[in-house]
Amino acid sequence: MNGERQAERDAPVHVARLVIIGIIASALGIVLALLINWFPVSAATQAKPIDTLWDVLVIVSVPVFVLVTTVVLYSVYRWRMRPGEELLDGPPIHGNTRLEIVWTALPAILLVALCSYAYAVLHDIEVAKADTMEVRVVGEQFAWTFYYRDGGKELASHQLYLPLNRPVHFTIQSKDVLHDFWVPAFRVKKDAVRGIDTDVRATPNRIGTYPVVCAELCGLGHAAMRASVHVVQPQQFNSWLGKLRSGAQAGASTGGGGGGGEQASTDAKTLFTTAAQPVACGSCHTLADAGTNGTTGPDLDQVLKGKSAAFIKQSIEQPNAVIAKGYTPGIMPQTYAQSLKPAQLAALVKYLQEVTK
Ligand code: CUA
Repeated sequence: MNGERQAERDAPVHVARLVIIGIIASALGIVLALLINWFPVSAATQAKPIDTLWDVLVIVSVPVFVLVTTVVLYSVYRWRMRPGEELLDGPPIHGNTRLEIVWTALPAILLVALCSYAYAVLHDIEVAKADTMEVRVVGEQFAWTFYYRDGGKELASHQLYLPLNRPVHFTIQSKDVLHDFWVPAFRVKKDAVRGIDTDVRATPNRIGTYPVVCAELCGLGHAAMRASVHVVQPQQFNSWLGKLRSGAQAGASTGGGGGGGEQASTDAKTLFTTAAQPVACGSCHTLADAGTNGTTGPDLDQVLKGKSAAFIKQSIEQPNAVIAKGYTPGIMPQTYAQSLKPAQLAALVKYLQEVTK
């Protein structure tokens, strides 16, 4: 009984110590968390509210974490078992209604407040703006294709170009498995789900080139499923779109007309480099003649050197048949036998054989 009364008298001392330790540790934790540079440079108007939301979450979470760990560590140390106490048991406790109400109500209030704030931020950054540009984003194993509206048609590109300060509405789709369209510099990401259109909005506000990342494990080539977003001046964007348009038209005329608005060029070099449908070999492969320097797949100047047309054809149609040393099967799409028209395939094979002789 004596020990229990002593413990009761000591309680305020322990609480005071816990509070002091907790305040100091929380302050240190918050300063440290705010000093850490968590995010890459921000390049869209969506980024600032998200970064502020993150800071607020950190400021609120650190004291909660510190409170719990301080109480646990302090208790473990202060009331540890000492020699000779092996058979002792503590006083029976039946609960404390006041404490239980407090530790239920406080987290509930905190959660509702933070969720409301996060909801408000999400609502704000997803508001539809005037003069919004539409871009359709299609993910497949293991590449992104971006479709721009151009009159009644669509122009396809494997590079994402966006004009500065123009709101963009991305409609996100997948041809096969789950992918996730993520532009860290914009602070927005959303899953690409087969059969469903998802969407996300961003208004780029900083000139530069930033990574586009697939943020959903989607197969062997997941880590290589990257592209770039180029935020450029509006004039530069328009001239780029013009080039894409003339490339598509040239492709349509030489290829005898593409189906479904997609390019059907049979000019092999164009097929290899333009980053347009259905292939974009240069985004993954180095080829001196085409001026490409992709490193996801093997250097074609080396691995195709002196190879036969049959070997090259097989390598495009069944990429897993022969795998270059140091590379992994399953990275290169195995769909080109279907997606390339026979004339395109033949042109590519001929071109590759000639330039790697
Ligand atoms: Cu697509 Cu990961």
